[in-house]
Amino acid sequence: MTDPSIRHLTAADEQDRREFAHYTRLDVARGDFGFAAEQNGTAIGAGWAVFLPAEDAGYGFVDMQTPELSLWIHAKARGHGLGRHLLRLLKSEARHRGIPGLSLSVESGNFAHQLYEDEGFRHVRGREADGVRFWASDEARAEPT
Ligand SMILES: CC(C)(COP(=O)(O)OP(=O)(O)OC[C@H]1O[C@@H](n2cnc3c(N)ncnc32)[C@H](O)[C@@H]1OP(=O)(O)O)[C@@H](O)C(=O)NCCC(=O)NCCS
Repeated sequence: MTDPSIRHLTAADEQDRREFAHYTRLDVARGDFGFAAEQNGTAIGAGWAVFLPAEDAGYGFVDMQTPELSLWIHAKARGHGLGRHLLRLLKSEARHRGIPGLSLSVESGNFAHQLYEDEGFRHVRGREADGVRFWASDEARAEPT
């Protein structure tokens, strides 16, 4: 696989690039952020983190300070390290922005559990059955408060 180019997702992606809009509902004004991976002008991956409100929470919602992340790699581009790379960029961006952590949920049996475990995302106590995990940007903090 030739090296993909990676750039920040922008609000314009929702309007101009339907393939990203399908996977993301990014509200930059709310503090949401993400990255897009492209190859030869085609979207092959995206990772994004959104601050959904409690009343419209995602499966991986833990608290209002913690954006919930999602990761998607095009089926043909999987298994080449791109998912881990985007995940690390999201962690680094969260640290840069002073965000206390990131959360997510992943279905049981999905091999992504191993990826998230490797990258420091730990099960949230009491939410194990829903596959909810939390990564603390200050790794001394094990769980959301
Ligand atoms: C999950 C997903 C984002 C991973 O991205 P990817 O680019 O394929 O993964 P990577 O190549 O970076 O691999 C990272 C780790 O995932 C695991 N992994 C990747 N492919 C795997 C496979 N076919 N079987 C088992 N484990 C696998 C390994 O632990 C791997 O680490 P290693 O390379 O050190 O062994 C991607 O497969 C995807 O989009 N899947 C569908 C959507 C989804 O399930 N998203 C996650 C839920 S939020």
